[in-house]
Amino acid sequence: MFGGQKKLLVLELCMVVIVQVIVTISDSKLAAADNKHSEMKLPSDPSDFISIDCGTSGDYIDNETGLFYESDAKYIDTGEINEVSPNFTAPAYHLQVRLLRSFPQGMRNCYTLKPKQGANHNYLIKAIFVYGNYDGKNQFPSFDVYLGVNKWVTIDFVNDSRSSTVLEIMHVPSVDYIDVCLVKTGYGLPFISVLELRPLDNSIYQIQDGALMTIRRYDVGVISRYTRYPVDVYDRLWTPYNFSDSTVISTQSTIYTQSLDDGYKIPAKVLKTAAKSQNASIPLSLYFDDPLDSSTQCYVYFHFTEIEKLKEGQKRELRIELNGERNLTESISLEYLKQTTTAPNNPPINGSRLHFSIYAAEGSNLSPILNAVEALVLVELPLSPTNLNDVNAIKDIKQIYKVTRNWQGDPCVPSNLSWEGLNCSNDVTPRIISLNLSSSKLTGEIATSLFNLEALTSLDLSYNNLTGPLPEFFAQLLNLKVLNLTGNKLTGSVPDALMEKSNGGTLLMRLEGNPDLRLSVPFHQKKMKFITPVIASAIVVLLILLATIALVLFKRRSRGGMITGYRKQVSLKSKNEAYTYTEIATITKNFATVIGEGGFGKVYLGVLKYNTKVAVKVLSDTSKQGYKEFRAEAELLRSVHNKHLLYLIGYCDEDEHKALIYEFMENGNLKNRLKEQTDADSLSWKVRLNIAIDAAKGLEYLHNVSKPPIVHRDLKTSNILIDEKMRAKLADFGLSRVVTESGPNSTNPAGTFGYIDPTIRLSKTLTRKVDVYSFGIILFELITGKPAVIDMDLGSDAYHILEWVIPEIERGAIQNIIDPRLQGQFNANAVQKMANAACSCARPTVDERPDISDVLAELNKCLAIEMDPGTTCKTTSSNMPEEACSGKSTEITPFNLGRLFEERDEDC
Ligand SMILES: *[C@@H]1O[C@H](CO)[C@@H](O)[C@H](O)[C@H]1NC(C)=O
Ligand SMILES: *[C@@H]1O[C@H](CO)[C@@H](O)[C@H](O)[C@H]1NC(C)=O
Ligand SMILES: *[C@@H]1O[C@H](CO)[C@@H](O)[C@H](O)[C@H]1NC(C)=O
Ligand SMILES: *[C@@H]1O[C@H](CO)[C@@H](O)[C@H](O)[C@H]1NC(C)=O
Repeated sequence: MFGGQKKLLVLELCMVVIVQVIVTISDSKLAAADNKHSEMKLPSDPSDFISIDCGTSGDYIDNETGLFYESDAKYIDTGEINEVSPNFTAPAYHLQVRLLRSFPQGMRNCYTLKPKQGANHNYLIKAIFVYGNYDGKNQFPSFDVYLGVNKWVTIDFVNDSRSSTVLEIMHVPSVDYIDVCLVKTGYGLPFISVLELRPLDNSIYQIQDGALMTIRRYDVGVISRYTRYPVDVYDRLWTPYNFSDSTVISTQSTIYTQSLDDGYKIPAKVLKTAAKSQNASIPLSLYFDDPLDSSTQCYVYFHFTEIEKLKEGQKRELRIELNGERNLTESISLEYLKQTTTAPNNPPINGSRLHFSIYAAEGSNLSPILNAVEALVLVELPLSPTNLNDVNAIKDIKQIYKVTRNWQGDPCVPSNLSWEGLNCSNDVTPRIISLNLSSSKLTGEIATSLFNLEALTSLDLSYNNLTGPLPEFFAQLLNLKVLNLTGNKLTGSVPDALMEKSNGGTLLMRLEGNPDLRLSVPFHQKKMKFITPVIASAIVVLLILLATIALVLFKRRSRGGMITGYRKQVSLKSKNEAYTYTEIATITKNFATVIGEGGFGKVYLGVLKYNTKVAVKVLSDTSKQGYKEFRAEAELLRSVHNKHLLYLIGYCDEDEHKALIYEFMENGNLKNRLKEQTDADSLSWKVRLNIAIDAAKGLEYLHNVSKPPIVHRDLKTSNILIDEKMRAKLADFGLSRVVTESGPNSTNPAGTFGYIDPTIRLSKTLTRKVDVYSFGIILFELITGKPAVIDMDLGSDAYHILEWVIPEIERGAIQNIIDPRLQGQFNANAVQKMANAACSCARPTVDERPDISDVLAELNKCLAIEMDPGTTCKTTSSNMPEEACSGKSTEITPFNLGRLFEERDEDC
């Protein structure tokens, strides 16, 4: 319901205003030349690659990579071919993403890949999804992608800010085929643009159970070039990455990467650039703060090569630390122009957010460097596919009889997607136990493949046009209890073995309606003999069937929850987050430095091991009310994860002592910044815009992404914290409440004077619009530099900011309210736009206020105007008061390897 409301579909496409640098695949000739220096032979033969351009009709050699791309026609016989909007341009894979295949029919549709290396080999599987408004509807779908019988990930373009993505997974299949399936979830049609498979060395990216999905692959020190095949022999996609506050270093020398025992084959080109921190006492900090499930296991691979020619006797040594507390490595010593890969994954790394710091090791006085890094997450594959013999047999049957039902993927697993017309056993490796192809227009003879369904107990082929003899092999299917061939055109005579089983009561056989089929003994003579056993066994069969159906139904219900979301239930207690009171005292140096005071206690400066600063919020003994808020906050923060929400590092919940440990935000809160800033530079208009956008993103996450939605209830400038780069995060969730959709949710008015929605007392209903109101006030504070409640000079009463700004805006005198400290350094249109957005947020009636996603879109537009005043966009509709234009942002999320695609509209 919110998805629909918040999407400004037309706006989504007007990307151009926030398009950042569009990256391009490097020139292939240059890349190939680079490649030749370092790689004498290709360890991965491109003729073993499978490269499928979904939806295209003919095969071709791709100009960029020299790879052979084939049409998907021979991999799939369902779906429709579509073409992305002609105005859509892709900087990479541009040929491959033009056409795509969408799947209006069937719940599940699968591509079956049969790599040459067969089972038990390591493969990289890449799938690319570029919506490109192919259906002309601008309606972003959400669907699941399965790797074989297990869910790989949910692609959620409805709630996500992107509409294209690259998925990549490393997988060792136990069977000689790999199904990649797209499964409907009820939000639009699944589709796919490209599907690729590359064999990998068996020694790399290895784990016991499950597969590894790539979430990051950074080529550090590169500005704007993606790298893939042929530079990377495995065709991994490397995203350019740069650390802020670091120096890029590079070398022209040859790097010895391809020693025989190195399976990673990191391209020399990737290793030739690196980032170097400013000095040896400063670490390189890498944050993965995507909304990962805190129990998700992350596998990280750091790739280093010394590329600076060091002085005699000098050596660079590093160590890597996780979240400021866990040392991941011993000291790593780098060798000149030689590759070192460090994979500190034992024990596995987990946590909802990960912060890696690369330090100079003790005694090393050279800055730490990093050449490349990869992060992958474990995708568990708990379900096993159906018995392979059964799978092969049923696939043969499907092919022989050209079964028109949507039989895709594994016949039995998962049970809620099992093929229509068959039932399966409940074993770990399920078997097909019944097949019903009654009235399915089957023609031809009875297929011998049926004989391979060894576990079959019931076979119903009634009312088809089957011809030829009734084969004797049915008698050898030991479990077969029901055989219904009524209403066909079988000829010849019924084999004796079958007659005997039927007479003996072990097989319920129905053969009526086959005029040319002869019984070896006249039917009526035998009839009397087996009628009683037949009834008896019919009852048994019926009972078995009922039991099976009950089991299947039960299984379906119990698995229902599992397939709905990638994120699992967040576990409430994770041991690396819990701190003792003694530890809290140590961290805060006995509560030495107070850095703030919240509603329920003081906030102290803390220092974790290795000098990571944190903010420690300690609940005061007297605060009873505070305890509830403390709990609420701790629980909420453990269940929501977004980089625009303050990161909870840990907590202490020891008898009387309660404390929350947060990441430290260098620049304090927005309230103090606005109050204390005296010059235009440090809180420039652009910085303010970015702060507004960050806060809006945090709020959008709470309102529209988090499930269930959350109302912050105490949004104010003192709850917006600012880091060293002047980017903002929302904090203080003590009053937050989960919104239940079921109806009015009575609540006490809460919040801070000046920010409280005036209507809340009337309605007593908790809605997200309460926060939107407060957000409007915050926007006005950013524009004016004044607080929500303005104290006048001596004598006058205090008044609310709206009492001042609204009349000024209404009489067109916006210049009167703009913070004079900005000294005219802003774009007037952008300010006007932000003021309009603020006005609509602060509207007196709840229904008139926009959704935060609309506000965010508007703010993005402001930023675009600020960056490029010439930008204009035509749009046709908007939830905002005047014409609006924005688009999907292109942030990197777990299943997105990078900002590979930007979608844009013709109007922009
Ligand atoms: C590939 O390159 C050749 C020559 O550079 C060009 O003629 C051809 O059209 C290109 N093919 C595609 C599919 O882009
Ligand atoms: C390293 O850089 C930081 C920040 O620029 C500075 O404060 C510090 O003194 C430097 N340390 C050394 C050893 O140069
Ligand atoms: C097979 O399906 C048909 C039609 O759906 C149904 O009437 C019949 O009872 C089924 N056969 C068995 C053995 O369950
Ligand atoms: C075929 O026969 C079986 C056994 O009597 C019965 O359960 C099933 O419903 C029959 N199929 C149809 C289509 O009537």
